[in-house]
Amino acid sequence: MKIFLDTADTAVIEKHFSSGLIDGITTNPTLIMKSGRNPEDVYQELIDLGIPDISMEVVGNREQMLWEGRRLANKFGKEATIKVPCTPDGLYVCRLLAKSLVKVNVTLIFDEAQAILAAKAGAKYVSPFVGRLDDNSITGLDLIKRISSIYNKQNVFETEILSASIRYVNSVSQSFANGAHIVTMPPTVFEKMYNHVLTDKGLELFDKDWKEVQAHT
Ligand code: E4P
Repeated sequence: MKIFLDTADTAVIEKHFSSGLIDGITTNPTLIMKSGRNPEDVYQELIDLGIPDISMEVVGNREQMLWEGRRLANKFGKEATIKVPCTPDGLYVCRLLAKSLVKVNVTLIFDEAQAILAAKAGAKYVSPFVGRLDDNSITGLDLIKRISSIYNKQNVFETEILSASIRYVNSVSQSFANGAHIVTMPPTVFEKMYNHVLTDKGLELFDKDWKEVQAHT
């Protein structure tokens, strides 16, 4: 049961990584663009922080993605997970990278058929986009359950389900309940995972009562 943060904001990542609860980072071209930084500076900073698994997305045609994927894997080593889209070119690249033992995250998964192909191509992770399915009136969390059921029945152990495009805390819990191995989430969702109104209320009462104890001992 692993938690990844879905961001390229290294300051926020550093803050939350110190909790010891973060297992990896996923980035994508949009998140890198939002950071306003050179992607490789971001990746290097994350490696220097000790992040063990960083998804680095490649774009372009199959030759470009393969060349870039190999270059990034060589440059960044075991921490690098190369992220490719679930397209014929992306899965072609996935198969070749996986053969040379490079970890691959197949992204933009919206149907179990795509997860089947990605597993056959040797993906280390498949990333179903829960929130974007919900945005289109399809229950994203059901897809996690269906992929998990297929992988379990077919004894697929090498490919892990990385639940992505997460908007709510409840989707994190339900993703794990439905069989995800990993959930990647924006830092704001991770921060909310700690919270419960009854925890706040209970703590307030305990603090008050403890002051009473101290006042009378
Ligand atoms: C997955 O790895 C993607 O980076 C991400 O989860 C996409 O989320 P979004 O739909 O919120 O952009």
